[in-house]
Amino acid sequence: MCGIIGYIGKQKASPILINGLLRLEYRGYDSAGISTIEPEGLVVMKDKGRVKNLYNLKGIKDLKGTIGIAHTRWATHGKPSKENAHPHQDNSKMFSVVHNGIIENYNELRILLENNGYKFYSETDTEVIPNLIHYYFSKDTIEENNKTKFLRAVRNACLDLQGSFAIEVISSLFPENMIVVRKDSPLVIGTSDDEKYISSDIPAILSYTRNFYFLNDLEFAILTSNSVEFYDTNLNKITKSVQNIEWNASAAEKDGFDDFMLKEIYEQPTAIRETIGSRISTDYSCDIEGLNFDKNYLNTINMIYIVACGTAMHVGLSAKYAFENLCKIPTQVDIASEFRYRNPIINEKTLCIFISQSGETADTIAALKLAKKHGAKTIAITNVIGSSITREADYSLYTHAGPEIAVASTKAYTSQLILINILIIYFAQILGSCNDSLLLDLKKEILELPKKLEETLKCDTQVKSFAQKIYQEKDIFFLGRGIDVATAQEGSLKLKEISYIHSESYPAGELKHGPIALIENGITVISILTDSKLVEKTISNIQEVITRGAKTFVVTSQKMNYNMFDEVVKIPETNTFLSPILSIVPLQLLSYYISKGKGLDVDKPRNLAKSVTVE
Ligand code: AGP
Repeated sequence: MCGIIGYIGKQKASPILINGLLRLEYRGYDSAGISTIEPEGLVVMKDKGRVKNLYNLKGIKDLKGTIGIAHTRWATHGKPSKENAHPHQDNSKMFSVVHNGIIENYNELRILLENNGYKFYSETDTEVIPNLIHYYFSKDTIEENNKTKFLRAVRNACLDLQGSFAIEVISSLFPENMIVVRKDSPLVIGTSDDEKYISSDIPAILSYTRNFYFLNDLEFAILTSNSVEFYDTNLNKITKSVQNIEWNASAAEKDGFDDFMLKEIYEQPTAIRETIGSRISTDYSCDIEGLNFDKNYLNTINMIYIVACGTAMHVGLSAKYAFENLCKIPTQVDIASEFRYRNPIINEKTLCIFISQSGETADTIAALKLAKKHGAKTIAITNVIGSSITREADYSLYTHAGPEIAVASTKAYTSQLILINILIIYFAQILGSCNDSLLLDLKKEILELPKKLEETLKCDTQVKSFAQKIYQEKDIFFLGRGIDVATAQEGSLKLKEISYIHSESYPAGELKHGPIALIENGITVISILTDSKLVEKTISNIQEVITRGAKTFVVTSQKMNYNMFDEVVKIPETNTFLSPILSIVPLQLLSYYISKGKGLDVDKPRNLAKSVTVE
């Protein structure tokens, strides 16, 4: 949540910062602000609303400073307003700070500072940070006025903070420097010879550099335009090496599409092709680089937990079927925010798989830490190299979907699905837990899927015209059986988040136990039917809603009498375990076109942010 950007170099900072904020807006868009070091001292400009409001502020184009920090906010403490927007300053206006995360003990710190004469002008938790830095800076009696003293003040302030933070600090006293630090909140440093770029997200600065430093929790970086020094919590110098990121800058552009979401829907064949990579080769061998599990170890696993949030959790719901059927290992899927507080039974025989596109989701990371504490082996599935989750997990498996910018996750979802299915095949192969011909069939199907996904995307026009008929509806239902329940849930989530239409998803057989009371004349019911063993049963359930006047939209790979439904989208047939990779596509497009029909901002839906780095 919230986006942070920073620049230190030879160019005017403000255009680079604004450009970065525009790219980061998907992380939060309640208010935005910037602070640069000008000849007269620190200047702060901020406003409520989108980055374009900030850009239009009088005087912003006159800023000349070559060092600056900026922020786009997703409000936690305090309503979206100019006063609550970042950057925040200490009372003497010596330090400007932007912060991402939540300071849990801010009230206590605020009282301490108030007792020492500090005044507060916002409702935010962040405002304690610059004042705390000033407090430690002014109390520091060591006779020096150099960057070490600046660093010491930032370090001392950070040691008082409980919660999560990624922070950038600049000071009028140190016009050559910027200090950045993170704890449980993402922050990367992009580097080129005489320029440094700081961001909460790699894509925002990809057009400037592909060379990045990654900070661990409570590591401090003090930057000039041509140097970065790293320090641990005790302020001992540490060394870090630059990592090169393969994503290219155009991957973070819309490339002629109206919205990132549509572009990312269309990128799915490439994204899954890249994710398959050499994990399944043309001779149908399956290997996962970085994993070295053997049969003895896999036989000891008595429970697999798949833990994630939102769309990533729906990947787990699909994968559960395959893990249990193909590997014969009991598998449980948990919402991360619940998992961490329900005392799950975890021990060294437990394998926990954490799925997160961003690799920064606070609940997922906390659940991962809990699993490790209890001795479980942990695997992270993520899209972002160097993200926090990869530093915590025993093993990290990467999807290669490229940057996903739209808040609504699409290509990350299908890439996660393909990767987890490859993992399942890898396990089943070692365990010998299912027959070879089924495994071979699955591998062949996986290699066919990019083409089948391209084929599936041809439903675009059909789905668009159906969306035009239903975009003004108030409630929409999603039904499925077996693995299609997971797709129904994901379809329903997608619709809610970008169209704001209320929607429910149910296992089709559960409908008659309550929700069918909500079915009335004209309501739209969307059903997914990909499992030949369950298709007849689901059709019977659809008949029940047709009888009660529902309009029906069906996504299916199966042959049936299509005439009984209002709209049928036919998708290519594949193995049932892999079918969610195709069946979700018409539902992604449906949500997209409904949102467009309503004139909404598809990529930045209200109240949401791309990566949820707070609990
Ligand atoms: C997806 O469309 C959502 N925006 C959301 O549910 C998301 O999947 C969830 O917040 C988890 O994010 P992560 O994959 O980055 O951990």
